[in-house]
Amino acid sequence: MDATTVICPGSFDPVTLGHIDIIQRAAKMFDKVIVAVLVNMSKQPSFTIDERISFLKTAIGDIDNVEIVGFSGLLADYAKERGAKAVVKGLRAMSDFEYEFQMALTNKKLNPELDTVFLTSDSQYMYLSSSMVKQVASLGGDISNFVPACIHAQVYERLKK
Ligand code: PNS
Repeated sequence: MDATTVICPGSFDPVTLGHIDIIQRAAKMFDKVIVAVLVNMSKQPSFTIDERISFLKTAIGDIDNVEIVGFSGLLADYAKERGAKAVVKGLRAMSDFEYEFQMALTNKKLNPELDTVFLTSDSQYMYLSSSMVKQVASLGGDISNFVPACIHAQVYERLKK
């Protein structure tokens, strides 16, 4: 049987423990996981593409079947180019569902070979988002429970005012 490659796409601005949990679980389920970091975001990111990739590499670069890359353009096209069978996304709450469902159906229309697999977020990360991390750090709050320990200081220093 062919190896199954999947894509975990996102802005990762910055990566949170919730993202890490989804990527680690995907890496156990599939042969190869491409973590695809969106380069050209519609809203201005807080971290550069190099910083966002570097945080991910520091946090999970040691997992053999995980590749971390930047991508631009349509996810459906990038998935095709990389031979990925599915997009893997975490679902936190019902509030994520509508937007994620819309993206999954759009991607399927653009690339009929591409399915989307949703993993339920671990209950301890249900509330966690990159925007919340940014808000807490910029106000001097403790983000050590929200981002991987190995990047916590770097993320905090960049965000605190
Ligand atoms: O972490 P995010 O911001 O929820 O990730 C969103 C992402 C990167 C998955 C989404 O914006 C995306 O796939 N962008 C690439 C452009 C694209 O393919 N758009 C059409 C499908 S919705």
